[in-house]
Amino acid sequence: MSIDYVCIDSHQPLNQVRSDLLRCEKSGREYPIVSGIPIIVDDPSLLLRSFHNSWKQMHSAVDTVRSDVEALLPEGPSSRLQRRISREISARRENLNAISKYMIPLERAQGDDAHISSRGSDFLFANGAAWSLERMLRYFAQDWTSSPDFASVSGLITSTIRSHAADRESIAILGAGACGTARAVVDMFDATCGVDLGLATLLLARGVLAGDDVVLNFEAIGWKPVRLQKLAPSERPVDLLVADANQLPFKTGSISVVVTQYLMDLMMDPVATALEIHRVLKSDGVWVNFSNPMRLHGEPLPYGELDIADIPPIFEPVGFDVVRCEETRFTLLNFAHLDPAGVGSFQKVHHTVMRKRTADRSTSPAPRTRRLSDDPSCWALVAHRVAARTVEIARVKTFSIPHDHNRIQIGVNGEFATTSSSDAEFFDALMSLIDGRRSLDDIYTALTRGTSQLPRRTFLEIMSSIHNNYGVVDFRKPAA
Ligand SMILES: C[S@@+](CC[C@H](N)C(=O)[O-])C[C@H]1O[C@@H](n2cnc3c(N)ncnc32)[C@H](O)[C@@H]1O
Repeated sequence: MSIDYVCIDSHQPLNQVRSDLLRCEKSGREYPIVSGIPIIVDDPSLLLRSFHNSWKQMHSAVDTVRSDVEALLPEGPSSRLQRRISREISARRENLNAISKYMIPLERAQGDDAHISSRGSDFLFANGAAWSLERMLRYFAQDWTSSPDFASVSGLITSTIRSHAADRESIAILGAGACGTARAVVDMFDATCGVDLGLATLLLARGVLAGDDVVLNFEAIGWKPVRLQKLAPSERPVDLLVADANQLPFKTGSISVVVTQYLMDLMMDPVATALEIHRVLKSDGVWVNFSNPMRLHGEPLPYGELDIADIPPIFEPVGFDVVRCEETRFTLLNFAHLDPAGVGSFQKVHHTVMRKRTADRSTSPAPRTRRLSDDPSCWALVAHRVAARTVEIARVKTFSIPHDHNRIQIGVNGEFATTSSSDAEFFDALMSLIDGRRSLDDIYTALTRGTSQLPRRTFLEIMSSIHNNYGVVDFRKPAA
């Protein structure tokens, strides 16, 4: 049995019109299927392009290791350092070789669009909600090397499900990552869906789930190679799906259990995500969460972390009964079982179990998560900045031997990433125009005056992303 997907706009069923395409007859929206994995998000081509770019970056990282060190050490690295660099370079190359066959569908799907860059949006997606495969590789070591820490968390999740799930028809694991948890629960349910925004991660996870022989080198243990666990194939498949936890392509009231593990703390507006989880759950359906403490939308990041006692008053109005609510500890990305050097970080975690109330009495405010779609009413919305959220643009100059270096960084809510000067100019112009008075149409017109070629749809996608993924911008209806 599989879960039937619906359109994220109309919530109507999707027809598979080709082996690689789903279509909603009501909204006209089309969603690609890449090597069996449906991509049911607002702008699939943008997401595909960002993954293609980050796959290319994973290749170029191999070449920059040596040149980075040589740029810092004009006399040349010592032989000890040389050995270390050579080990890292060959480990990275071996990783690329091991992974590349899984990325062929991504390269094919990207096709002719690969070279297009639409200012700003690539930066946002490369640094946005979907984690790159390079960042996610460590999670494969966590999930697939018989780690005692993974065994403890998956044991906790499965025992919680045994105790609390009202039925075992369907389960959705949101932010499924390396899919170890999806594998741990698959035999308990008729249908299991691993949902993540990261297509590259899911493509690799599918190979591991199928029992392929995968050997990867992990930085945390000195780039040593590790063979991932090969489990006997599960009786039922784990269906993989690229979708946003804030906009799930599931029918209302259709899912028995939703699991979020190390995801809710990443969500800009956890209440909005909870409302979407509430929508897709059946009456009496259960949401199991295991994440670092969440932070509420619109509160200053360093102070906003929720206490465990905050959970019931925040999530009961959403329409949940809190069944279990406890603070515990987890050692994240702990590879001490593979190498003594691979000790992980000891973290505070909230483990909560909530049941959707049978009579849906949600008194929570309307979700703040919104996707802007290309209709005239959305263009009239006024964009304003959100208190306690920041965008910073920094020119960083490093004085060094033999060359000084300049780079430009964009920081969102205090997290900085290096970017191109054109992206920085774009965000400078965009954020300056968001003043609480201009409508989206005014902002778009001012931004594209002159030479800029920014499709209207891409502009809306950027605005949706900085609203949903970063929480720095909000919208309100124009004053009557
Ligand atoms: C910290 S990792 C955790 C992975 C896995 N749950 C675990 O605990 O090992 C977060 C994962 O959530 C995914 N993610 C982040 N935001 C998401 C969203 N809005 N919708 C779906 N997946 C998301 C990322 O791509 C990444 O794979």
